[in-house]
Amino acid sequence: MAKKVAMLTGGGDCPGLNAVMRAATIKMVSEYGFEVVGARRGWKGMVEGDFVPMDLQSISGILHKGGTIIGTSRTNPYKEENGVERLKESMEKNGIWAIIGIGGDDTLGAADKLVKEHGLNIVGVPKTIDNDLSATDYTFGFDTAVGIATEQIDRLHSTAESHDRTIVVEVMGRHTGWIAIMSGIAGGADYILIPEVPTTVEDVCESLQRRHDERGKNFNIVVASEGAKMLTREGGEQLLTISDKVDAFGNVQLGGIGEALAGEIEARTGFETRATVLGHIQRGGTPSAHDRILSTRFGLKAAEMVKEEKFGFMAALQGDDIVEAPLADAVGERKMVPMELWDIAKTFFS
Ligand code: F6P
Repeated sequence: MAKKVAMLTGGGDCPGLNAVMRAATIKMVSEYGFEVVGARRGWKGMVEGDFVPMDLQSISGILHKGGTIIGTSRTNPYKEENGVERLKESMEKNGIWAIIGIGGDDTLGAADKLVKEHGLNIVGVPKTIDNDLSATDYTFGFDTAVGIATEQIDRLHSTAESHDRTIVVEVMGRHTGWIAIMSGIAGGADYILIPEVPTTVEDVCESLQRRHDERGKNFNIVVASEGAKMLTREGGEQLLTISDKVDAFGNVQLGGIGEALAGEIEARTGFETRATVLGHIQRGGTPSAHDRILSTRFGLKAAEMVKEEKFGFMAALQGDDIVEAPLADAVGERKMVPMELWDIAKTFFS
């Protein structure tokens, strides 16, 4: 009887998820003769036994499609009532031999625990627009998000320049500033705030004022990562959040630095200042060519790893190579923006 493999996509949706599943399914079905199913809505589908068949027909035409055809959620099997027991039962009942978990630190963190504590056969694929997973140079989805943010910054430049305005662009990225630093450099930002580099409101305002006074510039683009703290020289410190609610993995919903900083800049410099929050636009739609290729390479590698029973590992990009990395290495520590990138970015601040 054919071995049965379940794929799941967990956490925020991300461009390239479908491309991973397409590649993995084609390899597993055509080359290895495995049977493949998709668990609907991430770990939720695994726990509830909610599966859809994945075959050459169902994965046809999805390479370029955003989102995930099997749905996603932030369900944590460890937080559901008898979640892990139910997950094991549903694997048993549905004859599932192995799982390919496609997700970020939360999804892969749960995968790592399930392998270590329960001996489940799981391989991972690193996904997130935030690019904050260790053990891989890049995650898929990040390049697309940076491309989208850069395009939006270019558009906002037109308005900033035409109206003599300062525009604060708030981008995603959770507790790292990867999207902010890359799109800020690519979009020619006049200041960038990232969680890795404590920056006060005074630092930002003084820089914008110098740009005006010394270079005669009447407009500015400031890129702020949602996870950067609002700091003041008197010692004020605030991480802005949309609400106090936390998800099943303990994450707060970040957001608000754009508006708050815009208010401070206008009050302190007198420059007319607006905020634009890019939000989920950064996660939506078709993946870039780069992400389609990376996702395809990850999907093929994950299939190969299942065949070779490399459980507890994930596909990773190191240099130009797709390699295997322990899941624990990916989720143990957040990958922060290196100071070389910050140094590049700050060369262009006044
Ligand atoms: O991890 C991806 C991400 O888009 C983060 O950048 C952001 O903080 C978070 O997800 C938003 O999550 P949600 O869509 O659940 O609000």
